[in-house]
Amino acid sequence: MQAIMALDKENLPLHVAITMDGNGRWAQAKKLPRTSGHDEGLRTAKRIVKAARDIGIKYLTLYVFSTENWKRAEQEVGFLMNLIHTHLCAELAFYKENGIRVRHIGNFEALPASIQKDIKQAMDDTADFKGMTVNLAINYGGRDEIIRGIKKIIENKVSPDQLDEKTFSSYLDMPECPDVDVLIRTGGEQRLSNYLLWHVAYAEQIYTDTLWPDYSNEEFYSHIEAFQHRNRRFGAEKPASKKGK
Ligand code: IPE
Ligand code: IPE
Ligand code: MG
Repeated sequence: MQAIMALDKENLPLHVAITMDGNGRWAQAKKLPRTSGHDEGLRTAKRIVKAARDIGIKYLTLYVFSTENWKRAEQEVGFLMNLIHTHLCAELAFYKENGIRVRHIGNFEALPASIQKDIKQAMDDTADFKGMTVNLAINYGGRDEIIRGIKKIIENKVSPDQLDEKTFSSYLDMPECPDVDVLIRTGGEQRLSNYLLWHVAYAEQIYTDTLWPDYSNEEFYSHIEAFQHRNRRFGAEKPASKKGK
């Protein structure tokens, strides 16, 4: 049976986050430059956005570029920035046609001015869409997000007794999004790599050896199904009710 058929449409994760890893190894295995892996990875990302939209996922967060990825060769970083720029310009129509709201998470101020402009344009043009939200994590680091949040809290003179988990979340990069329900990572590594540290507190985690450019819709749906079979207890002795999310 196709994985999509096995899905329980009443029990979809509200928020799916993906660490799209393995582009470089995919290219190297084919004796291609690492940058070809990023080109192919972008095609996969677009396909998975559509696959998620088709089953009604409300929030999809994609790890595009981390605060640590600046350590890579200048040529690779330049290529990635250019790819992000081209994608945001060329695909704005796709996001609009599909009623997808685009948001950015990460350190905006430290991005090149041209990328800031593209992000702003994409966010402004899609701000009113209600269907699905795609959060693009570009120059994103979980620790950096938390530090920037704390700075805003201090600037706003929030008093200790006003500060609880809900208030703290509201100072982070995606205040309107629910916590991550499932975190999927391709590429074989089983680590967080500084992704969404606050938001994955109770996320189910799914790791696959598949390199991101090879990640199929079928495997994506099988991961959503695997999520549906997890027993989420949130610290209680019994699984939380799956209905009424
Ligand atoms: C993920 O693929 C994309 C980015 C981090 C930008 P990698 O480029 O990390 O690919 P591997 O892990 O080296 O194969
Ligand atoms: C995480 O992958 C970042 C993105 C996918 C954008 P990395 O390849 O940078 O992570 P590490 O270096 O394996 O931890
Ligand atoms: Mg990697």
